[in-house]
Amino acid sequence: MPVIEIEFGTPEYDESVALRDTILRKPLNMSFDPDVLAKEWADIHLGYYDNNFGLMGCLILSSVDENTMKMRQVAVATRAQGLGIGKQLVLASEEKAAELGYNKMMWHARETAIPFYEKLGYKIVGKPFTEVNIPHAKMQKTLK
Ligand SMILES: CC(C)(COP(=O)(O)OP(=O)(O)OC[C@H]1O[C@@H](n2cnc3c(N)ncnc32)[C@H](O)[C@@H]1OP(=O)(O)O)[C@@H](O)C(=O)NCCC(=O)NCCS
Repeated sequence: MPVIEIEFGTPEYDESVALRDTILRKPLNMSFDPDVLAKEWADIHLGYYDNNFGLMGCLILSSVDENTMKMRQVAVATRAQGLGIGKQLVLASEEKAAELGYNKMMWHARETAIPFYEKLGYKIVGKPFTEVNIPHAKMQKTLK
C-alpha cells in the first residue's frame, strides 16, 4: 500500500503541510497558524506516495479520547483527485486507528466532500455548522 506514516518535523512533513496549504487553505484565502502547526507533533500523519510523482495526498489523525480518533485535513493533489487516493488514505487511517485500539473514527467534513465520506460508510451526526468559514457536518463511523 503506497500510504506511509510521515514523521513530524521532517522534510516529508513540511511537504505535507505545503500540500494541505495548497489544497485546503489557499483556496479560502487562509493560511496555517504556526502555533497550531507546532501542536501537530502529537498527531499521526499519513501520506500517499506515487512512485513517479511523490506525495499525492495526506491526512492527519488526532486522538480525541481512548475510543475515538479524529481524521483531519484530508487533501489530495488537484491533478490526482478522482483516482482513488483519498479512499486509500481514509481506509489506511481506519486500519491504523483500529490497530491502535480505537473503535470510532470521526471527522468534520466539508459539505462538498460529504458524498465522498458517505461512500466510505460515514454517517452525519447532528446539525451542520461553519468551520474555516465554510459549511461542515460532523461525520462518524464505527471501526471493526
Ligand atoms: C475530497 C477528496 C479528499 C477525495 O479524494 P479523491 O482521491 O479525489 O477521491 P477518490 O478518488 O478516492 O474517490 C472515492 C469515491 O468517492 C467519490 N468522490 C470523491 N470526491 C467526491 C465528491 N466531492 N463528491 C462526490 N463523490 C466524490 C469518487 O467518485 C469515488 O467514487 P467510486 O468509489 O464510486 O468511484 C479530494 O478530492 C480533495 O482533496 N478535495 C479537495 C479538498 C477537500 O475537499 N478535502 C476534504 C475536506 S473535508
